[in-house]
Amino acid sequence: MTDKLIDNFGRQITYLRLAITDRCNLRCQYCMPAHGVNIVNRKELLSYKEMYRITRVLSELGVNKVRLTGGEPFVRKNFISFLESLSFNDKLEEINITTNGVLIKKYIEKLEKLKIKNINLSIDSLNEENFNKITRRKVFNSVFQTLEKLEKSSLNLKLNVVVQSGINIHEIKDFIELTRLKNLSVRFIEEMPFNGTGLRKTDQVWNYNKILTEIKLHFKNISVLKNKKSATSKNFKVEGYLGSFGIIPAFTRTICTDCNRIRITATGLFKNCLFDDGVFNIRDFIRNGASNDELKQLFINSIQKKPKNGFVAEANRKEVTESMSIIGG
Ligand code: GTP
Ligand code: 5AD
Ligand code: SF4
Repeated sequence: MTDKLIDNFGRQITYLRLAITDRCNLRCQYCMPAHGVNIVNRKELLSYKEMYRITRVLSELGVNKVRLTGGEPFVRKNFISFLESLSFNDKLEEINITTNGVLIKKYIEKLEKLKIKNINLSIDSLNEENFNKITRRKVFNSVFQTLEKLEKSSLNLKLNVVVQSGINIHEIKDFIELTRLKNLSVRFIEEMPFNGTGLRKTDQVWNYNKILTEIKLHFKNISVLKNKKSATSKNFKVEGYLGSFGIIPAFTRTICTDCNRIRITATGLFKNCLFDDGVFNIRDFIRNGASNDELKQLFINSIQKKPKNGFVAEANRKEVTESMSIIGG
């Protein structure tokens, strides 16, 4: 049996995005309706033991980076113990987390001691009122304190800002200004249709080029940073600023050629692409007694179905109506 995950386009899969839960303690407008989304019965969620096993099997097939997402990973009980056990997997070089920052503050010292390298913090406004409007919850001050604590910690910090027409465009420059004295990277993300109802109707489409044009209006001395292969963001820096910024063409999908990732949702659905419908449910195979070798073969076979890019994936599926909290970002 081959021991690597290589798809039909020669792309090697080394990055797993694993959703810890479908639950979330915020209600971001671009992610879900105000009343939330239907959450599944707890029994349908993968257990930590199952997630550990899936990660182990995939790491034996060359996956060396795992990003834990959600919903919000920290709302699931015993998440820290799971991180501890995952840190024992010596084949993993990086364990990263994407979080909304509401519950993480008291765990930062602990995370520094584990194999956690990068924290991507979702924060779409630096203004309390606007933040509360976007998230439909009142937690701005606590999230901002977390941001400051993370910036001072040994963890590498990236901010995820979903660019929302008519909502936070005027704050793009404020986010970049934040990088003057803070050692972090702000990444502006194109809004996608994963909000439970499909693409939001807006006056203007804020795609990669438009975001960059807006930034250049306010900042003149911008340099391009060297990109890591397979990175989602194109990165830049305002000269003389401590931090950097990036733009993620999540919807225009110009990053697919170097895609190195797969996803597993909180209920065990295996996805080759953010925009696909899912290939199979790993939970069902595990609960029916599949061996590790059988799981490996399933992964190897499924990777052969990885679509060339997110447009092909989208064309081959039914209408997009799910929330990002189900997919895991
Ligand atoms: P790094 O590991 O730090 O590069 O993070 P990341 O960008 O892979 O992950 P993160 O969870 O911070 O995601 C940031 C944004 O990029 C989210 O809106 C994701 O949905 C989007 N994103 C992540 N992976 C993909 C992908 O494969 N395709 C597309 N189109 N968007 C993605
Ligand atoms: N469009 C773009 N990004 C989104 N995210 C959640 N929903 C959307 C959407 N509709 C982002 C979150 C988080 C990451 C995992 O995905 O802000 O940072
Ligand atoms: Fe929760 Fe993240 Fe969705 Fe916001 S984007 S509602 S923080 S899962």
